Amino acid sequence: GLERWKTVELPIVHDSRGNLTFIESNRHVPFDIKRVYYLYDIPGGAQRGGHAHKTLQQMLIAMSGSFDVILDDGFVRQTLSLNRGYCGIYLEKLIWRELVNFSSGAVCMVLASDFYDESDYYREYDEFIKAVRGTPEALGNKAL
Ligand code: TYD
Repeated sequence: GLERWKTVELPIVHDSRGNLTFIESNRHVPFDIKRVYYLYDIPGGAQRGGHAHKTLQQMLIAMSGSFDVILDDGFVRQTLSLNRGYCGIYLEKLIWRELVNFSSGAVCMVLASDFYDESDYYREYDEFIKAVRGTPEALGNKAL
């Protein structure tokens, strides 16, 4: 699609006993959820991410606390904040992401379209840029 990333408002069931949010495969995320992982006990000042995926699609949700997500598709860079259990960020493949400014007690849950596979990662920014923009020579000719 044209949108490489998208904020998604998830359903909430309000109740005097507290709120409930749910996420269903291919309804609230446009993929089959094959893996769930979460980041927690994050020390102050720590950064996560710093990579892109060749094929993986994901959704990030702040289950508790807050953090900022820096997104970069090789052409456009945007920073989004997550701080609500009913807000997610959907990420298509080939998006460089960095997670920063974690509040104390923050928990980042990630829903993923596939199992863990190290060969699906671009862990070097230059390598990612080459993949999305072509050769470094062509890169110099493209207007941002
Ligand atoms: P990484 O994806 O780099 O973490 P983050 O993007 O949150 O900063 O993964 C960190 C380490 O954990 C790396 O050695 C791979 C391992 N890992 C798994 O074994 N399984 C998983 O599902 C994930 C996400 C990571």
